[in-house]
Amino acid sequence: ASAPEEHDVVVIGGGPGGYVAAIKAAQLGLKAACVEKRGSLGGTCLNVGCIPSKALLHNSHLYHVAKHEFAGRGIDVPSVSINLPKLMENKASVVKGLTGGIEMLFKKNKVTYAKGHGKIVSPTEIVVEAADGTTQTLKTKHIIIATGSEPSSFPNIPIDEQKIVTSTGALSLPEVPGKMIVIGAGVIGLELGSVWSRLGSEVSVVEYQGAIGAGMDGQMAKEFHKMLKKQGLNFELNTKVLGTELVGDKVHVKVEDSKGGNQRTLEADTVLVAIGRKPYTDNLGLENIGLTTDNRGRIQVDSHLRTSVANVWAIGDVIVGPMLAHKAEEEGIAAVENIINGAGHVNYDAIPSVIYTHPEVAWVGLTEEQVKEKGIEYNVGSFPFIANSRAKTNGDFQGLVKIISDKNSDRMLGAHIIGPNAGEMISEATLAIEYGASSEDVARTCHAHPTLSEAFKEACMAAYGNKKPIH
Ligand code: FAD
Ligand code: NAI
Repeated sequence: ASAPEEHDVVVIGGGPGGYVAAIKAAQLGLKAACVEKRGSLGGTCLNVGCIPSKALLHNSHLYHVAKHEFAGRGIDVPSVSINLPKLMENKASVVKGLTGGIEMLFKKNKVTYAKGHGKIVSPTEIVVEAADGTTQTLKTKHIIIATGSEPSSFPNIPIDEQKIVTSTGALSLPEVPGKMIVIGAGVIGLELGSVWSRLGSEVSVVEYQGAIGAGMDGQMAKEFHKMLKKQGLNFELNTKVLGTELVGDKVHVKVEDSKGGNQRTLEADTVLVAIGRKPYTDNLGLENIGLTTDNRGRIQVDSHLRTSVANVWAIGDVIVGPMLAHKAEEEGIAAVENIINGAGHVNYDAIPSVIYTHPEVAWVGLTEEQVKEKGIEYNVGSFPFIANSRAKTNGDFQGLVKIISDKNSDRMLGAHIIGPNAGEMISEATLAIEYGASSEDVARTCHAHPTLSEAFKEACMAAYGNKKPIH
C-alpha cells in the first residue's frame, strides 16, 4: 500500500448522491475524493437506472407513435420496424456520454477519483482496492457514505439476468421476448413493462397489492391502470408469486391470490423481477466503526444526515426515504453544507416523483389518502387535458391534473398529474409547495398560451374559491 493521502471529505460511491456531494465539497473549498468501484461514475442512475431506462422509454415511444399514430396525423412512412441492436447502441452511447461527463466535472473541480472498492477501516481511513488488487489508503476528516442500493430478490426466484432478470437485465435484452411477466407494478415494472410492450412483447404484470403505482394517489392509480390496460398491458392484481421454474426455454411462474388460494401457473419467455430495491453496504467496513443498519438494511442518520459516528455521514438510497436520484443529490449537497457550517437542509415534503411512461405520471406532496389519514380538511380541484388546447392540438390529451389544497388556508398540499410532460410540469407544483403557495397563488399566475401548464393553472382555479375553471 502507498502512503496515506489527506482529504477533508472522502465520498464512498459515485452515484447521483456521491458525485454531487464530491463536486459540491470541492466547489466549497474542501479537498474531496470520491471512491467508485463500478469502473464508471454516475451510479445506478446513469449506468443501469434513470438514464438507460429513459433512453429506451423515449425511443420505444417514438417507435410506437410512428407505427400507430403517424398515418392518422398525415405522415406517411412506408414501413416502421425496430432495430434492437441499434436502439441499444443508442442507449449505450447516451450512458457513455453522461458518465464520461461526470469524470470531466471531477477533473474540472479537482475531485480525486479513486477507482476501486472502498472499505472503511477507521473513522478517518478508507482502503481502496482497485480491480487489479492494488490498494491505497485515503486519510480524511469526514466520510460520506453514498453506496446506494441493489435490486431486492426472492429466495425461490433465482435471477440469471437472461431469462429471469432484474431491471439491469431488462435494459439490455438481446431480443424482444414473446411473452414477458413483470413481478411488481411499481415504477420499474411499469416503465420497463411499457418499453417491452411497445416493442412487441405481450406483457403481464403481477402485483401483490390491489393497485398499481406503489403508493401513488388512489384515484390517479385507477386512471393510470385503465390507460395502461388500453395500451395492451395485462395486470394480475392482488396476486402473490410463489416461485419460478425453468421449463425448456420458458419460465413458469407459480402464483396465487394474495389472500391465498387459486394457485395457477403463468408462462413467459422472460420474467422481470421488480419488487423494490434494498440498500447496499456489502464489505463496506461499517463494523470497523461500530455502525449498524436497521431492519431494512439502511444506515441510520439524524436529521443532519450524520450517523452515530460524528464525522461519518450517509445519503441517498442507502438511508431512509424515497429511492430517487434527485433526493440523493439534494442530500449530497446538504451533507456537505452540514460538514462546513451545519446549515444543510432537505425539504422532504417537496420531493417530486415521476413515472416516465406515456402519458407520464408525476406527483409531489400528499395523496388524498394521506390527507384523509391526517384528518386535514381539504379541497380538490382537477382539470382534464382533453379540455386543454395545447394537448388537443398535439393530439395527446389523456390524463388530468389534480390539486389538493387545505380547505382553510388554501395552501397547496399535493399535486398529481397524469399527462403529456407531467414530469416537467411537476416542477411548478414542487416550487409552489416549497414556497408554501396557495392554489389561488398559482391560479392568479399568468401561464403562457397555448401550453400544457395551463391545465395546472386551471386545476388550481378549481381547487379554490368558486371551484370553476374557465374551460
Ligand atoms: P447509486 O446510484 O446506487 O450509486 C452508488 C454507487 O456506489 C454505485 O455506483 C456503486 O458501484 C458504488 N459503491 C457501492 N459500494 C461501494 C464501495 N464500497 N466502494 C466503492 N463504490 C461503491 N431515480 C430517479 O430519480 N429517476 C428515475 O428516472 C429513476 N429511474 C430508475 C430506473 C431504474 C431501472 C433503477 C434501477 C433506478 C432508477 N432510479 C431513478 C433510482 C435511482 O437510480 C437511485 O435512486 C439513485 O441512483 C440513488 O443514488 P445513490 O447515489 O444513492 O446510489
Ligand atoms: P417499487 O417499490 O416502486 O414497486 C415494487 C412493487 O412490487 C410494489 O407495487 C409492490 O407491492 C410489489 N411487490 C412487492 N413484493 C411483491 C411480490 N412478492 N409479488 C408481487 N408484487 C410484489 O419498486 P421498483 O419498481 O422495483 O423500483 C425500485 C425503486 O427504484 C423505486 O423505489 C423507485 O424509487 C426507483 N425507481 C424510480 C424511477 C423513477 O423515478 N422514474 C424509475 C425506476 C425506479
